[in-house]
Amino acid sequence: MTSTHPDKDTVRIRRAVRGDLAELIALENRVFSGDRLSARQWNRHLASDTARVLVARSHGMLLGASVVFFRSNSSIARLYSLATVPEARGRGIGERLVAASEQLARRRHCRSIRLEVRRDNSSAQRLYERRGYLRIGERPRYYEDGETALRYGKVLSRTQR
Ligand SMILES: CC(C)(COP(=O)(O)OP(=O)(O)OC[C@H]1O[C@@H](n2cnc3c(N)ncnc32)[C@H](O)[C@@H]1OP(=O)(O)O)[C@@H](O)C(=O)NCCC(=O)NCCS
Repeated sequence: MTSTHPDKDTVRIRRAVRGDLAELIALENRVFSGDRLSARQWNRHLASDTARVLVARSHGMLLGASVVFFRSNSSIARLYSLATVPEARGRGIGERLVAASEQLARRRHCRSIRLEVRRDNSSAQRLYERRGYLRIGERPRYYEDGETALRYGKVLSRTQR
């Protein structure tokens, strides 16, 4: 087993800390070609009470991350970002990050969670649909390169995992 092909069981998901910052930036630079968070934005989100960054790590390596936003006076959480390093895809890490993000939202008493996904990103759309997300609309020219965003939402039951 190489360190980038870990057993699913060795992958641990936890809240990100400042020590994860360099790897979070590296992950984002590898995975997204546009609409990236700056180092400053990452720093702010790591320290903010209205944002949570989750990391999936194994054997000392960052394999994936998600970012969830909350707003005061809103029961709707927003799954803002999700990424798995290419070498670790197809092992359920993305789905675990989404599940953990939903769990965080439940703990914050959110009743639903929403997200935007590129219209050309069918792999991410499949993941969200598998987890019960429904399409609730779209936003034309939402991304820097002009691609449309599909908007998805999911009602968070108290018990579902
Ligand atoms: C979208 C993304 C986060 C998915 O991450 P991932 O860790 O590969 O996600 P999962 O492993 O949970 O699911 C991916 C696929 O692996 C399959 N899979 C999951 N666990 C598996 C296992 N143990 N054995 C075989 N296949 C498995 C899933 O069924 C899924 O298949 P599908 O693509 O045919 O539907 C990842 O592809 C990524 O980072 N993409 C670029 C950034 C991006 O698009 N982010 C989303 C923005 S909204």
